Amino acid sequence: MADLRVNLCGVQLKNPVIPASGTFGFGREFDELYDISMLGAVATKGLTLLPRKGNPTPRIAESGGVILNAVGLQNPGVESFLENDLSWLKTKTKVIANVAGETLSDYGEICARLDGLVDFLELNISCPNVRCGGMAFGVKPESVREVTSIAKKNCPHTPLLVKLSPNVESIPANARAAEEGGADGISLVNTFTGLAVDIQTRAP
Ligand SMILES: Cc1cc2nc3c(=O)[nH]c(=O)nc-3n(C[C@H](O)[C@H](O)[C@H](O)COP(=O)(O)O)c2cc1C
Repeated sequence: MADLRVNLCGVQLKNPVIPASGTFGFGREFDELYDISMLGAVATKGLTLLPRKGNPTPRIAESGGVILNAVGLQNPGVESFLENDLSWLKTKTKVIANVAGETLSDYGEICARLDGLVDFLELNISCPNVRCGGMAFGVKPESVREVTSIAKKNCPHTPLLVKLSPNVESIPANARAAEEGGADGISLVNTFTGLAVDIQTRAP
């Protein structure tokens, strides 16, 4: 059998296969279909401080070979994850906890709560920053640096991956800003903004 082990920020994974955050829940449903311990790691659904119901349905639409989604960060909240999912998931494989916030202090608090308990933290910086009129944290390098630095201060014991947005002027500039803020690694990339247009009516 081929040796597919990889070293990610000092943590050894049995292979580099990691389902993307939000496409895999916390792994339980997929574990009924196959043994998810064969995965290198699982990136969890984005975790917020408090539970979120997400957007009203429909929130996933297929269009000409692509899928548009607007789930709205439905998740049970960080405390429920710690109580109900983390111990089970750790028996299976390495855990990458995906972190989402509306404010800088949300990011800090969630990282502090998970520090040392998971194998990696992954910052979802595509969330709207309430203080900046809803512009995502991941758009401008200054704000990428700021959110990364607050997160890193709060997770000194856990490797921090910053998940960059593709919907920006310069992905390299944001990657450098994440590095300056103290990121241990980056993950590429979050959802591309999409719009399906009906060619008959020319309306979205
Ligand atoms: C239904 C759905 C939910 C997602 N939820 C999250 C999330 O909670 N946090 C996050 O960082 N990314 C989330 N993503 C983004 C994916 O992790 C991935 O970055 C994105 O789909 C781009 O990869 P792709 O081009 O292979 O689809 C979600 C994507 C989908 C389709």
